[in-house]
Amino acid sequence: MTEPAIEALYTEDRSFPPPDEFAARALVNDRAMFDEADRDPEAFWARQARELITWFDDFDTVCEWEPPFAKWFLGGTLNVSYNCLDRHVEAGRGDKVAFHWEGEPGDTRTITYADLHAEVCRFANVLRDLGVAKGDRVNIYMPMIPELPVAMLACARIGAPHSVVFGGFSSDALADRINDAEAKVLVTADGGYRRGSAVPLKANADVALAATPSIDSVVVVRRTGDDVHMEAGRDHWYHELMERAAPDCEPEHLDSEHLLYLLYTSGTTAKPKGIMHTTGGYLTQVAFTHKYVFDLHPDDDVYWCAADIGWVTGHSYIVYGPLANGATSVMYEGTPDHPGRDRFWDIIERYGVTILYTAPTAIRTFMKWGTQEPEKHDLSSLRLLGSVGEPINPEAWIWYHTHIGGGRCPVVDTWWQTETGAIMISPLPGLTTLKPGSATHPLPGIAAEVVDEAGRRVEVGGGYLTLTRPWPSMLRGIYGDPERYRQTYWSRFEGRYFAGDGAKLDDDGYLWLLGRVDDVMNVSGHRVSTTEVESALVDHPKVAESAVVGAKDDTTGQAIIAFVTVKGDVEPDVALGEELRAHVAKKIGPISRPKTVIFTPDLPKTRSGKIMRRLLRDVAEGRDLGDTTTLADEAVVDEIRERAAAAPRDE
Ligand code: PRX
Repeated sequence: MTEPAIEALYTEDRSFPPPDEFAARALVNDRAMFDEADRDPEAFWARQARELITWFDDFDTVCEWEPPFAKWFLGGTLNVSYNCLDRHVEAGRGDKVAFHWEGEPGDTRTITYADLHAEVCRFANVLRDLGVAKGDRVNIYMPMIPELPVAMLACARIGAPHSVVFGGFSSDALADRINDAEAKVLVTADGGYRRGSAVPLKANADVALAATPSIDSVVVVRRTGDDVHMEAGRDHWYHELMERAAPDCEPEHLDSEHLLYLLYTSGTTAKPKGIMHTTGGYLTQVAFTHKYVFDLHPDDDVYWCAADIGWVTGHSYIVYGPLANGATSVMYEGTPDHPGRDRFWDIIERYGVTILYTAPTAIRTFMKWGTQEPEKHDLSSLRLLGSVGEPINPEAWIWYHTHIGGGRCPVVDTWWQTETGAIMISPLPGLTTLKPGSATHPLPGIAAEVVDEAGRRVEVGGGYLTLTRPWPSMLRGIYGDPERYRQTYWSRFEGRYFAGDGAKLDDDGYLWLLGRVDDVMNVSGHRVSTTEVESALVDHPKVAESAVVGAKDDTTGQAIIAFVTVKGDVEPDVALGEELRAHVAKKIGPISRPKTVIFTPDLPKTRSGKIMRRLLRDVAEGRDLGDTTTLADEAVVDEIRERAAAAPRDE
């Protein structure tokens, strides 16, 4: 027997079949779609592409695969903004609400498909008037206001790829991304609201613009009304340009492989990678997954993806998927704790949200805040919950299912990446029996396998998650750097896309994500996943959230150091630390018992909510902190460092 790449230690026995009433109404409640896709995956995707998307010219080739480069639906032409807007208006659904938008201060706007269509056509003309032609890149640096999807769709309408940079990023990050894309125009706003104050986006952009020679024009949306510098000849107010723009704009007929957007993923040290997504394949898979994973009934559902459009989750599941499917969505500008910690539940009650899609980091924060917050509101409109971004610990899943879903809503744990463009591994809620913490199975048409160090398939147990077949919404490369694309994703295992994640398969063939393989700890020769130890900690009733890291250790190679955040009313002390160490040993075995437990009120996270284990490793090993540019709240680390110095150690 060879040593497993990653050990599988955590067992979870609870399971949840789809509730009968849910299954009865669900779009998918039998295996026909899986059978069809197994028989002929290309024919399956071709059918989805023709059913879900309107093409100006039908395609003649489904997939051209010259590893590692794929092209989908060749010969086909289409326009994403036509699919998201015009065809719904033409079908008489112009009055349907596309977005119930809510600003953080409480201002609201109701935007129908007809409204959105009109605004997008005008803004597409604005961009053309500024000299943007098909193929030119447009950068977007905006708060979560309706003009953000308007700008994206206007780009899509004229075939100008967009590059959205999350509004929480710094001037430097913005400048790097503008320069890599050589964008011609920047669309931004004077500011946006976050946790009660205005974030000065235009002022940040001004700093970036000093070092971005490709930018000819800047368009500024007035959101906060704060004073901003406007550079004569370069900077223009959105509302003034819109007044002058012509109202009609024919959508460009674009090739299926036309570049739709770039979205940069930040490596922790290396230069950000401009992930390329194209038109036909991307739209097909986001529309497909949005429809079937969320069991969308567009006439009844009010759907809310509580991510930021600056991340891929927002691109695919706030903008392109829901609009292609003609859904009614909620879009919210601000944070979940403004003005109170019940803001999300208040929004759900007021709009009658039926489907909620959010991240484990948010769910664990809600756990920490306590059940009294959701209990203030009537959440009975909800019928389905989703999770994305990190492994969801079984106890966080149960909390979400019980306290938000009232025990009646299936929870779809969806695994995917910026690079995959759309959901890859997920339950189908009317069909799949759920296990809390498992993303369950690849979707129809998707092929995933777990392999060992040597690239051999693992049937049961832990290893590396790989994708074995091209998929329609896969990244087409890294902008300007095909070699880096090959190296990063296709070189570790011959003929396989390697995603960087560890995973295990249980006895029933369910997939469990185990976190990034870079984070796997080596304790006395055992390869222990951070996710499993964290789940064992969160399993304790007093724990809300935890992050574990391996720190160098003379005896065991690495020792497990656990950073733990307790639930709202709990006072942590030495005895609780001991109790937690014993709890982990009992739950998943003594090898995984943390050497030290450090209690901390918060954990360091990236702006998108992922725990920065690298920083915690630096704290645990007493090093100077590495790069903190993507850290959401720098004060957290100082506090953790003080507590780490004071924590009792098990020598
Ligand atoms: O490690 C996996 C984790 O998030 C990574 C992708 O991050 P990003 O490109 O920012 O996209 C996030 C939104 C799709 C993955 O490599 N991840 C995402 N979803 C899950 C997950 N880990 C476990 N379970 C998930 N459901």
